[in-house]
Parts: sequence; structure tokens; C-alpha cells
Amino acid sequence: MHAAIDNGYILALDQGTTSSRSIVFDLAGHALAQAQQEFTQHYPQPGWVEHEPEVIWGTQLATLREAVRNAGIAPADIRAIGITNQRETTLLWDRRSGQPVARAIVWQDRRSAALCDALKARGLEALFRERTGLLLDPYFSGTKLHWLLANDPDLRRRAEAGELAFGTVDSWLIHRLSGGRDHVTDVSNASRTLLFDIHRLAWDEELLGLLDIPAAVLPEVRPSAGYFATLDPDILGAPIPITGVAGDQQAALFGQACFEPGMAKNTYGTGAFVVMHTGARPVVGEGVLATVAWQLGDAPAEYALEGSIFVAGAAVQWLRDGLGLIPDAARVEELARSVPDNGDVYFVPALTGLGAPFWDPYARGLIVGLTRGTRDAHIARAALEAIAYRTRDAIDTMTHTTGIPLAELRVDGGACVNDWLMQFQADMLGVPVRRPAHTETTARGAAGLAALGAGLADRAQLAQHWLGERNFTPAMPAAERDRLHARWRQAVALSRGWARG
Ligand code: G3P
Repeated sequence: MHAAIDNGYILALDQGTTSSRSIVFDLAGHALAQAQQEFTQHYPQPGWVEHEPEVIWGTQLATLREAVRNAGIAPADIRAIGITNQRETTLLWDRRSGQPVARAIVWQDRRSAALCDALKARGLEALFRERTGLLLDPYFSGTKLHWLLANDPDLRRRAEAGELAFGTVDSWLIHRLSGGRDHVTDVSNASRTLLFDIHRLAWDEELLGLLDIPAAVLPEVRPSAGYFATLDPDILGAPIPITGVAGDQQAALFGQACFEPGMAKNTYGTGAFVVMHTGARPVVGEGVLATVAWQLGDAPAEYALEGSIFVAGAAVQWLRDGLGLIPDAARVEELARSVPDNGDVYFVPALTGLGAPFWDPYARGLIVGLTRGTRDAHIARAALEAIAYRTRDAIDTMTHTTGIPLAELRVDGGACVNDWLMQFQADMLGVPVRRPAHTETTARGAAGLAALGAGLADRAQLAQHWLGERNFTPAMPAAERDRLHARWRQAVALSRGWARG
């Protein structure tokens, strides 16, 4: 059994789109043990993506117990719990029984596209953007929740009678972790619902009215670092406080110690999420989202700009599972390296529409530029290049909006181990790409928020936990970089609006 170093441990729960993870950290920021479980994705109709709420909870609970067991520590030595989660995913449950009343509608789900179109046609996008920093896209929770209530009169009646609770995944987990006692969320998760005024940090009556959502379903909103709830002692045998909560991309920004305006990170996972700290005020601009980064206790909230790219690593998975072009995702790097250039082949992976900065739910994927000389390697390379081009699209828009040039990009997520991609990314941006020694940045961010919230660390100490592993320095001439990117934008233009017919 480990002795409690510097007075104990932090348990971080990271509930993601494809798996639930739990990691035990010590107070010096070392990860001691972890556990992870993947779970089933449900695709009941084209464009729909659902999760089973009981499975989200069950896998999270199992990994929490396993991580603590693997760490060989006494639960009583865990000083705080931090939670981070896939954002926007929408859950609804019965307040009294704690039972879900529907499957979770996942952030990738496009079923509310028509409602978004109708709201846009009424000229309401500017209002939503001004209040929430977001756009009218099916990505966000508000139109998903509207869909749930609009499609079942019984649910609407129960929601209006105060019998139902809505939550993003953090709320759902806290509800279960607290033994059904608490219904809370944090400002960063609330800022992804399309229902939350990011200036006043409060639910917005007018937006609730426009989406026909009764305020009775909403959770109480708290700062990201501070007290949320206490773990039901039946779960681990100890009543541990939950003191840090943030959406996974905001938690990754925190875990990357991007604490100053202009500092940015990109997480290369299923999707890619570029997030730039913008300081104490939201910066609302075209094409990228203004979002709450976090609020630490009573301090004023800090804000970020975000470029959400829905498909990144998922394009490589599709080459593997959909096309059978590669046996495993790791092979894609070798293939990309095996050709001297892309052979003028471009792959726009708009498999679930396009996010930032295009926001076109009707765009669809395409591969263009095929000739008789095109090989599997060109397509593999085009899939990797696309991730870097999409990142540049988002960052160009952000630097245009803020007027702050990007000095460097900190990277994390599964695909950041791909050295070829990281070099191409640095080349495409013309700034250094910095990869940290620790890769579990999201969970690290949640642990850091929990440590702050429990008064166990301050921000300066957390910044010292960030250690670089490798820097990728841009080497491509600017003219070549811009030529490739311009060609890419021609390909993007071809993919737009395809699913409208
Ligand atoms: O906005 C969606 C994002 O939070 C999902 O992240 O890591 O679960 O794919 P991830």
C-alpha cells in the first residue's frame, strides 16, 4: 500500500464519448493508477447517436473502484474528487426514482438540425450567440432537450410538474455519486447548453422560453473549483468531497496550464478541440465559439474561444473500420510517411457535417483528386493532413477574432503520439507544437480543479506540474504551407451542403 504522499490523493473521473476512465493522482501531480472501460454507441437512425445512461454510470463506477484498488490506497486518503466529461450530451431522469427516462442524446447527434434551421429562419441566431457564445447547431444540449420534451407529451407534462431533472454527464454522475441527493453542474458545462448566459453566469429565461424548456428541470450552477457534493459513503467507504468539475475540453485547457490569454491547446481525439484562453471576458466572433473556461471559487470566470472539429481521429477509424484500408490506426503514420507528398489528394472528413469555423450540418465527407496513380498511402496521408488543416482553419479564425497571434500550440489526446502529424501541424500553423510528458491532460485538469477547490494547491503549483516532452518546430516554407491550405479550402467548398440533396 502507498503511504499518503504530501497528505493524500485526488481521484479524477473522465467520462468520455467512447469510454469511462478514472485516474488516481498524488498531490505532486503523478498519476498512480488508472482504469478504463469502453462502452456501446447506439446509432438508431442515420445522424442519431445515443448512450445508455445506466451504462455511463456503471462503467464510471466500475473504473472508479478499480483505479482506487490498483493504486493500493485507502479511500480515506482521497482528499477530493474531480469530474470531467463529454460535453453537451443530454440526459433526463426522474427526480424521485433517479431513473433515466430516455437514452442520452450524444453531442454528435444531428436530429435537431431542422429545429436549428427554424430558429435561424426566425432571425434568432444573433441573440443566442450574444447570450451563450454558441451558434444554432444541433451540437448543443438545448435543442436536444427540446426534442426530448417535444416528442413525448408525458415527458413534457412531468418536466413542467418539476418531476424530471435535466443534466449534462457531469450532473448525471454527481446525482448518482451523491446517492441521488444533488442536482448540480459547473459553469463550463452549463456554457454548452445554449440555455446559459455566459456574461451573467445564469440560466436565461428568454432562451428557455424560445426553446420551450421549463426552468424546473435545470440543475444548480456552481463554480468549476469549489464544493459540489459528497460521495455517498456506500461507494468507497469514505465520504469524499467532489470539488472540481469541468467539461473535458476546458479541463484539458486547465491540465495544459494554459492560464494566460492567447495560450491554446488542441486535443486530438475522436474529434479535435482547439481551445484558446481569452481572459476575463468572452470574445464573441464569427465561426468559433465563446465559452466559459472555468470559474475558480468566487473569482471572476475566465473565458475561452473554441474551434470544435467533430471528426479527427474518427476519420482514421473510418479508414480502418469503414474501408478496411488499414489494419490498425498506428499504421496510418507509416503509410503517410511512405509517399513524398499528398499527390494532390484531399480528404474532407465531414462525416457528421462540419463544425468550426464552417458550421454546416449538411456537409458530407469527400475524397477528391483521385487519379490512376493514387495509392492507399495518399488517402491515409490525406486523412492526417485534414486534421492539421481543420486545426489551422479554426486557429486562423481565432487569431482573427482576438487579434492575438498564436505563439505555440500545446497538444494532447490519442493522435498526438503521431510524430508525422505533429510535425505537419507545426508546418501548417507556422508555430511550434509542444507535446507534454504526461498525456492524460483532461483528467489532470479535473484533478487540478479538485485540488484547488479543496484548498490543496494553488494555480502556480499546478503550472509547475506541466512538463514538455517534445517540441515540433515549423520547417515548411510559408508559400508551400499556404498553397496546400488553399487547395484544401477548395476541397472543403465541394463538401458543403451535400446532405441537403
Ligand atoms: O464537445 C464534445 C467533447 O466534449 C467530447 O469529447 O473526448 O469525449 O470525444 P470526447
